[in-house]
Amino acid sequence: MSQFWSPLVHRLTPYVPGEQPKLSDLIKLNTNENPYPPSPRAVAAMQVELGTDGTNLRLYPEPTAALFRQAVAAHFAEFAITADQVFVGNGSDEVLAHTFMALLKHQAPILLPDISYSFYPVYCGLYDVDSSTVPLDEKLEIRVADYHRKNGGIIIANPNAPTGCLLPLADIECLLAANPQSPIVIDEAYIDFGGATAIALVNRYPNLLVIRTLSKSHSLAGLRVGYAVGNASLIEALVRIKDSFNSYPLDRLAIVGATAAMDDKAHLEQTRQAVMRSRTTLIQNLQALGFDVLPSAANFIFACHPQRDAAQLAAALRQRNIIVRHFKLPRIDQHLRITIGSDAQCQALVAALQAILN
Ligand SMILES: Cc1ncc(COP(=O)(O)O)c(C=O)c1O
Repeated sequence: MSQFWSPLVHRLTPYVPGEQPKLSDLIKLNTNENPYPPSPRAVAAMQVELGTDGTNLRLYPEPTAALFRQAVAAHFAEFAITADQVFVGNGSDEVLAHTFMALLKHQAPILLPDISYSFYPVYCGLYDVDSSTVPLDEKLEIRVADYHRKNGGIIIANPNAPTGCLLPLADIECLLAANPQSPIVIDEAYIDFGGATAIALVNRYPNLLVIRTLSKSHSLAGLRVGYAVGNASLIEALVRIKDSFNSYPLDRLAIVGATAAMDDKAHLEQTRQAVMRSRTTLIQNLQALGFDVLPSAANFIFACHPQRDAAQLAAALRQRNIIVRHFKLPRIDQHLRITIGSDAQCQALVAALQAILN
């Protein structure tokens, strides 16, 4: 605390990211990173951009990342998306931040699930956005009928985090149809691991913004690239905020790397299938150990053991060099969120849990 702080800083409750420890032989299943390397085409594109002496880095990147926005539009060509319907940012966290400021700050409170991505309330605090939480049902699932009331906007992660539960596209469409006057933001950070994208609805609903990231299904968390797809007028609002904040959110390496990654659909398909296969096996193995596991359409699962305290399980795993995520929050403090690792990592996790439970 300091007398030099702006008053706002005193009031902030910042987001606490999952631990990124320096230990080497660690099995890191706490921040939903992908266990597989990114597309070799993305790596090659960045190496070309870097060159032997890095001379390109003298120059600012292209501020609108048009190359990447065109690649996103091409990736979703089946939904007739154009580059002016795409906004990009330094990770989807930045895209989300701009969205809260550009589209979600109105007189009526925004609606969001009581259990969801814990950055949303942080943005509400930062931008002074009034919000009201809507409880998940008893199965920890979103019930869209609960969102049919006056609001200044709605934000939902689909699949939800940290539960991994998926809303079918038909439910998203009900939400849109019931709230034509509100901006509806669907955060699809994990959608490639088992859901249908709401980008299919963008050209029918001018109030829909879909936010996505290359951090999870494209294995590029370290590159920091996220994007939003929506009606061009929503995108214009985001660009106005971005150009009042940082004109160059994507650096030169990120633009070419992300573009090549979006173009490499075969690599995406291969890795997402591998993660989904490992998820099925891990769920079966955890259920055999007595865990209750929520149905997951994400690259993580949300599990609890009826006889064991979740915080103690997380601590015992940590002693064995395996980190998973435990949230000390109401309703979910007996759950663990476990990222789907490689098959070897998942097997090590199951073996460790077996030892701890016996
Ligand atoms: C639901 C959700 N949205 C957005 C993000 C942010 O991802 P990134 O900033 O890496 O794109 C995360 C990260 O874990 C997430 O869980």
